Amino acid sequence: MDDDSAAGEVIVWRVAIPGSLPARAASWLHAAEIERARRYHREEDALRFTSVRAAARRILAERLRITPQQVVFNESPTGKPFVAATLGPPTEFNVAHSGGLGLLAVSTLGPVGVDLESIDHARPHLEAVEPYLGNEERRAIAILPPAARSRFLIESWVMREAMVKAIGVGLGGVDLRALQRPKGSGLGTVRIPAPHPFDHPQGWWLRWLEAGPEYIAAVVTAGCPKAIQVRDFVWDTIA
Ligand SMILES: CC(C)(COP(=O)(O)OP(=O)(O)OC[C@H]1O[C@@H](n2cnc3c(N)ncnc32)[C@H](O)[C@@H]1OP(=O)(O)O)[C@@H](O)C(=O)NCCC(=O)NCCS
Repeated sequence: MDDDSAAGEVIVWRVAIPGSLPARAASWLHAAEIERARRYHREEDALRFTSVRAAARRILAERLRITPQQVVFNESPTGKPFVAATLGPPTEFNVAHSGGLGLLAVSTLGPVGVDLESIDHARPHLEAVEPYLGNEERRAIAILPPAARSRFLIESWVMREAMVKAIGVGLGGVDLRALQRPKGSGLGTVRIPAPHPFDHPQGWWLRWLEAGPEYIAAVVTAGCPKAIQVRDFVWDTIA
């Protein structure tokens, strides 16, 4: 795994959730993380958390030039995890998990938020998204064929979650109706307006991600990245 993220670059790691966590990866987890995993009611939720956290430890350790066990995760007052980077380059990250996949976005630019939804998991909950659409989104969805509506709604939700996670406030911390889907967001990186007081001097920028046919995913960064790379985390290399 090379550590070549230059200033202005964002790397999004795709983490396939393994059938079970490799022993070496499990050995990187701290007691509090193991305890948290125990509290999940469903084993699959625990595995999603431990797998993505272990992968994050590995990837961030390489960046920070420390061991995976030495990575210290803190949380902002609103619950956004961050790493204490006393040495090494400024590094911000964010994770998402859904179904059999996790995403870890690492940025040298500043705050970053990533979201991922399994289309199958999201489909039954789409009615809950409709009330949060803005006027332009309502006009756009009204003329879509029924088959395209689900995808539009999931995208609208993923865009909002990625934005909320970049800002760091959580879903309850911002008026979701005020987060408008930018026009032309199928093409490259587009600026996304944020409601006051959440704007950023360099702006917030949205990019849809290739996460596979069963998923919809997006990353939001503070400042326009020079490049966004998507890479696969390879469990075999740590076995
Ligand atoms: C953060 C949130 C958007 C995550 O959405 P989700 O669909 O449940 O889960 P995702 O897989 O997309 O993301 C989970 C990850 O988001 C990250 N996260 C948690 N809180 C976050 C925040 N405030 N900002 C950014 N990222 C956050 C965590 O890394 C978490 O993964 P982990 O628990 O494995 O470390 C949602 O759970 C939320 O809003 N939580 C906060 C609730 C809230 O508003 N509380 C009030 C606090 S003031």
